[in-house]
Amino acid sequence: MTAKSMEELTSLCKRRGFVFQSSEVYGGLQGVYDYGPLGVELKNNLKAAWWRSMVYERDDVEGLDAAILTHPKVLHYSGHEETFTDPLIDCRSCKKRSRADHVADGKCPHCGSVELTEPRPFNLMFKTGVGPVEDAENFAYLRPESAQHIFTNFKNVLDSTSRTVPFGIAQIGKAFRNEITPRNFIFRVREFEHMELEFFVEPGTDEEWHQKWIDMRLDWWERQGVNRNSIKLYHVPPDELAHYSKATCDLMYRFPHGSDELEGIANRTDFDLGSHTKQQDKLNLTATVKRNPDTTARLAMQNLSTNKWFVPFVIEPSAGVDRGVLAVLNESYEVEQLDNGSERTVLRLPPHLAPIKVAVMPLKRNHAEIVATAREIVSDLQGLGLGRMTLENTGNIGKSYRKHDEAGTPICATVDFQSLEDGTVTVRDRDSMDQVRIDRAELSSYILSAIRM
Ligand code: GAP
Repeated sequence: MTAKSMEELTSLCKRRGFVFQSSEVYGGLQGVYDYGPLGVELKNNLKAAWWRSMVYERDDVEGLDAAILTHPKVLHYSGHEETFTDPLIDCRSCKKRSRADHVADGKCPHCGSVELTEPRPFNLMFKTGVGPVEDAENFAYLRPESAQHIFTNFKNVLDSTSRTVPFGIAQIGKAFRNEITPRNFIFRVREFEHMELEFFVEPGTDEEWHQKWIDMRLDWWERQGVNRNSIKLYHVPPDELAHYSKATCDLMYRFPHGSDELEGIANRTDFDLGSHTKQQDKLNLTATVKRNPDTTARLAMQNLSTNKWFVPFVIEPSAGVDRGVLAVLNESYEVEQLDNGSERTVLRLPPHLAPIKVAVMPLKRNHAEIVATAREIVSDLQGLGLGRMTLENTGNIGKSYRKHDEAGTPICATVDFQSLEDGTVTVRDRDSMDQVRIDRAELSSYILSAIRM
């Protein structure tokens, strides 16, 4: 089950504190969103799952956390200054601007007028002044992708880790694009986060690695609760490829607004390392590789260089965190009809992504002993290091269950009068709504096995 509309999701996000319009008190800043108490947990959990699978569960990837402010030359030689543009159309009637590919039948999407200008390129990069003197020389770009600093740090990482290809550099962080028409909630925004891996391989092995990464990324999304059938592969045709790409496969997820890009997996060849190497004599962004005789023979057959030193090719799985959050929310959203004729909204998030792992509920909000016991349990569970554990002290258990179903909390534990007598608590499962009484001493191991990080 998924949400029927984007409105269902935006309303849940606001109600439960996942996502808010940024600067809302001043009318909002278009295309910019803030993550609330539950949203920050979900987002952090998704990023942690990505980092775990990219860095901790492999032995061929290093991490990086590079700067957002970027020297203009980096984005000049990467090709972004010249080509990172969208075609823009102005409406002469309502004066609004649209992306050319959002204009259907030659009509303005805002007012329907046909009085439109010809498309012209609009660069999507944000500039900002650097230092106290504001002039054309002293500026930096806010990076439009996290990838470029992976390339400019390639040699630093290589020299400090003695890696040989194939190996990758992973990075999670903010990216900024002055989108002409931000839309569809957190799908297309001006400030977002990238989870990017640049995986460096020998030329000639790139196509094989490209396919491997497409398969690995599909598996990973499935582990985040995104059904394989909800993703279609789009092999980008040559005339739509980014300036750096030899081949790109987009993972197209069925968002509430339609099928759209969740992640792009590109074969960037040696475009970026090659370009930075050519522009700077001092930079020699080459790698060494331990080649076996088979590889050398295959390269020779493909007329590729068999030299020991070469500029590696790059396979880049690049996913948007915000689009990931939207996909995961959508996939887990369900309005379930209950036997008693009522309905409940539930987020069936995989437990490792759930913002709150366990909510502990005292049956009576003013009963000192029950509340103290519940507090103790919360404190014990916090020691497990699984994430947020909360005390839900409303005194209305039914209402609290509904609230935590909407928050995606996998387990609720209720402390009542019997708990004081025999040391047991009632544990309720989010998905089945089944309740069992278990000994408090067994609660931690129960939670550990139920949450399965
Ligand atoms: N380094 C490669 C790169 O940036 P991209 O296809 O432009 O490629 C990669 O972006 C991913 O970043 C997309 O698949 C999408 O998930 C996310 N993304 C791109 N632009 C976005 C935007 N304006 N708002 C939210 N996410 C965006």
